[in-house]
Amino acid sequence: MEDEHILCERRDGVLLIEIRRRDKKNALTNSMYTALASALAHAAEQSAVRAVLIRGQEDLFTAGNDLEDFLQRKATDESQAMRFLRVISAFEKPVVAAVAGHAVGIGTTMLLHCDLVYAADNAKFQLPFVNLALCPEAASSLLLPRAAGHRKAAELLMLGDPFDAAKAMAAGIVNEILPADRLMDHAFAKARALADKPATALAVTKALMRRPIRAEIDEAMREEAIHFADLVASAPAKEIFAAFLEKRPVNPAKVHGEGR
Ligand code: COA
Repeated sequence: MEDEHILCERRDGVLLIEIRRRDKKNALTNSMYTALASALAHAAEQSAVRAVLIRGQEDLFTAGNDLEDFLQRKATDESQAMRFLRVISAFEKPVVAAVAGHAVGIGTTMLLHCDLVYAADNAKFQLPFVNLALCPEAASSLLLPRAAGHRKAAELLMLGDPFDAAKAMAAGIVNEILPADRLMDHAFAKARALADKPATALAVTKALMRRPIRAEIDEAMREEAIHFADLVASAPAKEIFAAFLEKRPVNPAKVHGEGR
């Protein structure tokens, strides 16, 4: 499955996957998730691909899930995002991410499944799930507290304010911060360095590092998905998505109930 907004190119053993949907801030649609999952599934089969680099552009990673898709979603709909997350979380080859500009929602949580993450000094992360009347996904409710500690993770997941690359590095989400104009070259050089290493040794190393929490990650994703499916179809969430798309304030009565 292909999508015009997911661009794939193989270079020196590295599969470069670029998210490019500039007019909507690279927001991810169902079709884009399907293309991302397919690109990774294909890369898993190809011996010529020895590392993957996920990127946006020098000023933008992704504004997260497309809110129009969220608005249309019913509790029973299958989530294409979940399929992508399952594939990336189980991916055996090394994954590098290059993040600049906005990295909202899944734009941040997918990084918890990458092995190396490089951020531009202009990067702005955000985990606004609660603000959208949603809950965490991508096993971020497990992986972020592990990486950052409960207090820091609570700040990022419960207050949901944007945070800069320095804070992301302190929270264990980012390896290194670079000037925006050096980000892509640097991240590619690291992905290429990984692609040049003995592939089986790398895959075994990655699997061993994940082994102690492999089952917990799957369990967290399953549990989160149950709540997420209900919340995304709830009246408060629908009101918040609609308000964003219609560029109007949220009606508090529809979020908190008429009694407030
Ligand atoms: N889903 C759908 N459309 C989105 C989007 C999203 N997640 N993020 C941005 N867009 C669209 C806007 O509706 C706008 O479309 P229009 O030009 O047709 O009106 C366009 O992209 C530009 O967005 P805009 O909000 O004007 O850009 P900005 O630079 O002022 O702000 C963001 C950038 C990322 C801070 C802001 O767009 C935003 O908060 N987006 C929503 C993020 C979000 O909640 N994601 C879901 C996480 S679970």
